[in-house]
Amino acid sequence: MPRTAANKATTTKAPARAPRRAPAKASSNNVLNILKEDHKKVDKMFEQYEKMKDKADDSDKQMLVERACAELTMHTRIEEEIFYPALRGAIKDMDLLDEAQVEHATAKNLIQELQSMHPGDELYDAKFTVLGEYVRHHVEEEEKEIFPQAKKAKVDLAGMGEEVRQRKEELRMELGIMEEMPEMAAKPKASAAKRKTVH
Ligand SMILES: [Fe+2]
Repeated sequence: MPRTAANKATTTKAPARAPRRAPAKASSNNVLNILKEDHKKVDKMFEQYEKMKDKADDSDKQMLVERACAELTMHTRIEEEIFYPALRGAIKDMDLLDEAQVEHATAKNLIQELQSMHPGDELYDAKFTVLGEYVRHHVEEEEKEIFPQAKKAKVDLAGMGEEVRQRKEELRMELGIMEEMPEMAAKPKASAAKRKTVH
């Protein structure tokens, strides 16, 4: 198995580019793109936590966990309120939607537990790591199985995207989520440590 590390210049630098605030294009209104962006965003948070969990302050850890939990709560609500109901009856394999909802329920339990815990508590890291595993599984199933069926179904993906954007604004207010991810926990406390191999 060839291992090429040479062409990987993955040093995380201060963000040089402006936050994305371009006017919504037709493609970015597609609900699938919006959900994929959410998936990427939380995935980054889990990755970030993995890297910092043994060396960061409790407050940084807690901030990241709270942020991830809030983002996930918003995401699951969007899917349960808008996306899944629209697909019911429109896609072939509706078991997938049931399974996704069960997965959401499991994730919600972990989120609730984490929200009542502190980073010093036993199993705090473990719970967040397991939450990340659930989420990755959910993302994989959704993107590989549900999204392709949604593309074929007779549903208005752009219209749904617009609805999702509006609902997100409300949920952001309700859950206290800022639009752009702050640089919290991004401050390196120790020099760039060992890089995790992503398979
Ligand atoms: Fe999702």
